[in-house]
Amino acid sequence: MARINRRTMLIGGAAATGLGAWALRPGDHSGARDGYFLGLQRALAAAGIATPTLVIDRARLDANVATLKAALPPGMAYRVVAKSLPSPDLIAHVRKSAGTDRLMTFNTPTLIALNRLMPDAGQLLGKPMPVAAMAAALPQLVAPDAVIWLIDSNARLASYAAVAEARGATLRIALELDVGLHRGGFAPGADLAAALQTIRGNPRLHLAGLMGYEPHLAALPTALGLREGALHDAWDIYGKAVAQVSDVLGAQTAATMLRNAAGSPTYRLYRDTHVANEVSAGSCLVKPTHFDTDVLRPHVAAAFIATPVIKAMDGTRLPGLESLGRIKALWDPNLARTVFIYGGNWMADPVDPPGLQTNGLFGLSSNQEMLNGGAGLHLAPDDMVFFRPHQSEAVFMQFGDIAVYDGHAIVDRWPVFPASA
Ligand SMILES: Cc1ncc(COP(=O)(O)O)c(C=O)c1O
Repeated sequence: MARINRRTMLIGGAAATGLGAWALRPGDHSGARDGYFLGLQRALAAAGIATPTLVIDRARLDANVATLKAALPPGMAYRVVAKSLPSPDLIAHVRKSAGTDRLMTFNTPTLIALNRLMPDAGQLLGKPMPVAAMAAALPQLVAPDAVIWLIDSNARLASYAAVAEARGATLRIALELDVGLHRGGFAPGADLAAALQTIRGNPRLHLAGLMGYEPHLAALPTALGLREGALHDAWDIYGKAVAQVSDVLGAQTAATMLRNAAGSPTYRLYRDTHVANEVSAGSCLVKPTHFDTDVLRPHVAAAFIATPVIKAMDGTRLPGLESLGRIKALWDPNLARTVFIYGGNWMADPVDPPGLQTNGLFGLSSNQEMLNGGAGLHLAPDDMVFFRPHQSEAVFMQFGDIAVYDGHAIVDRWPVFPASA
């Protein structure tokens, strides 16, 4: 008991709280390595991969595609969100396993690249492009009719119409609806009516459909019917907008146009096609940590960052603060070991070996990041450490070609798109 007291006194601030603070001392979080990651480590070594690498588990990816397809009601189409799966081969794989020719893209370099690689695939812009970006992209498209441009305001519609006129081009348009996210777009009412009238009066503009994105719904608690209420509000707005399309452009157009909704967080909330007739999703197929939600529980993590350990050592030594490091280690058993890894500072959390954590005092590093762990952490230089990305968008583009794992071996490499906004 006396020993515990003496240690407690050593820890600045904890002295005042005495034994109570000692009771809050963290446990050792390190533990045995997961067999899955040991297998993946062997596969990477056999493939000669020894630099930070983004790995996709193909069987898990396919299981996620099957989960998504099984959740779609009859008649609901699926659109692949390209920015969340930013590799042409990955998109081609998902297109094939999901049986879809619909893509959603978010920047003109990707739009143009995919239009050339897959002219048979339709692309709906997921955000409105500045008119100059649209005008610059138009002549670079091999299949311009495969593209549906997203329009959020009458001003943008007028500027797109001017380009269409000047170029003698016809543009397929989707109107962005604000169904509660409040990220812009049309609400049912006079502005939407004006946009529909503009389209009706201009043979160069063709209404392909509507798009209403509502990821906020998944963040709302189910308690007190909050999520249910917001969902019905969103669907009510959508229904009113469709009714306006019917009024201005006719029932046939309203019935046959695309009605896009959802994203990974919400696609499972659509149980029929009354409101939407297609859902977009990408992230749920690889399931980064931001998608660990109750709605997406049936999806499995399918993407990991693997990186080698460069150096492994006992204890935690902080430059210029060596004694503080020793004192902190007395308090926190998770500082018993230190490794420096190849790279770091990614939007990602370490997942294997268990118990690894970054060091807030040492800080993050894109070059050699310090990770600490407990006495049970057995890592040597060249062993691999695994992270789960927080998101796939942008993060997947930081590692060169994706390594494709079939559960036994690295069987393919999938180049990623160059990073572009
Ligand atoms: C318009 C739109 N639809 C769908 C999505 C869904 O993408 P994900 O399924 O990758 O979350 C997004 C994501 O930002 C979006 O902006």
